[in-house]
Amino acid sequence: MASTLFFTNCHLSPFSSTAAAALRRHPIRVAPTSLRFLALHSAPSQSSRVAAVAAMGTEASAKVIDGKLVAKQIRDEITAEVSRMKEAIGVVPGLAVILVGDRKDSATYVRNKQKACEAAGINSLEAFLPEDSTEEEVLNYISGYNEDPSVHGILVQLPLPSHMNEQNILNAITIEKDVDGFHPLNIGRLAMRDREPLFVPCTPKGCIELLRRYGVSIKGTRAVVIGRSNIVGMPAALLLQREDATVSVVHSKTLNPEEIIRQADIVISAAGQPHMVRGSWIKPGAVIIDVGINPVEDPNSTRGYRLIGDVCYEEAIKVASAVTPVPGGVGPMTIAMLLQNTLNSAKRIHKFE
Ligand code: GUN
Repeated sequence: MASTLFFTNCHLSPFSSTAAAALRRHPIRVAPTSLRFLALHSAPSQSSRVAAVAAMGTEASAKVIDGKLVAKQIRDEITAEVSRMKEAIGVVPGLAVILVGDRKDSATYVRNKQKACEAAGINSLEAFLPEDSTEEEVLNYISGYNEDPSVHGILVQLPLPSHMNEQNILNAITIEKDVDGFHPLNIGRLAMRDREPLFVPCTPKGCIELLRRYGVSIKGTRAVVIGRSNIVGMPAALLLQREDATVSVVHSKTLNPEEIIRQADIVISAAGQPHMVRGSWIKPGAVIIDVGINPVEDPNSTRGYRLIGDVCYEEAIKVASAVTPVPGGVGPMTIAMLLQNTLNSAKRIHKFE
């Protein structure tokens, strides 16, 4: 792993004990409105009742939002739909992935996407191009996949090598196959009222799906998105706004980010900064979605590193009403949403309900 970072073990660091002291001075009293974040659409399970009761005490313990479990449920649903479609009209959805260069993290993501496609019965096509390929070569692959009727989704793994113009390449994908939802027309429609994008970017879509499946009501809440990337932060903010949240975006130039984050009922963090969000930054009862997947050195791991989130999980679970872990939170949802977008694309193209 090329870019491992050093980090402080947040729950053991001096900062953490300050935060814990602050929390002891201001014991957590979950406001009635916060409790609605714990209500599931269906009857509350024993564990959610336990979490709700625990959240009212001073040693609050958040519900863990299990992205791995939800992603598995969604992938099972997709597998069943893929086979229903194949039996009914003989069409198998196809996803084409273009990977340029040899970044290890990108290669891992692409391999995982490939495996997930195979498991769901979706055809997977790959183009692995060397780092020094030209933009024209990538555009040629895109135009081939645009024309290929067996392909219903096209994904160019980002980031691209620095000599390529990302905008030219993403714009070349036909919007009917833009399963990443990064085409400016799809993003533009996402930003506008009364317009429907054909596809929504997978990671932010996965965040909203997690909130939905855990019965977190978004309407009327204050939401904060940390980070403003084209892939996650910006579309996540647009999606939350479409769900009637009042949204603030905190980024690297924001003054006093803690103050703004502390007002949020829902936080989606996509900062790419290990353990940046401390327990003391979180409003009691808030719901925390951690998109960060940050490699940090770990001599105890055989790989020499491990992955941690943007949020100090050990502190967050004492303050929030629900938190996603890293790994096992948002990560598995991204691939599940990609499969869902590919299936939906095939259904739309073949007018299959
Ligand atoms: N790189 C990191 N995340 C993504 C993603 O969701 N889509 C693509 N195409 N590249 C990425």
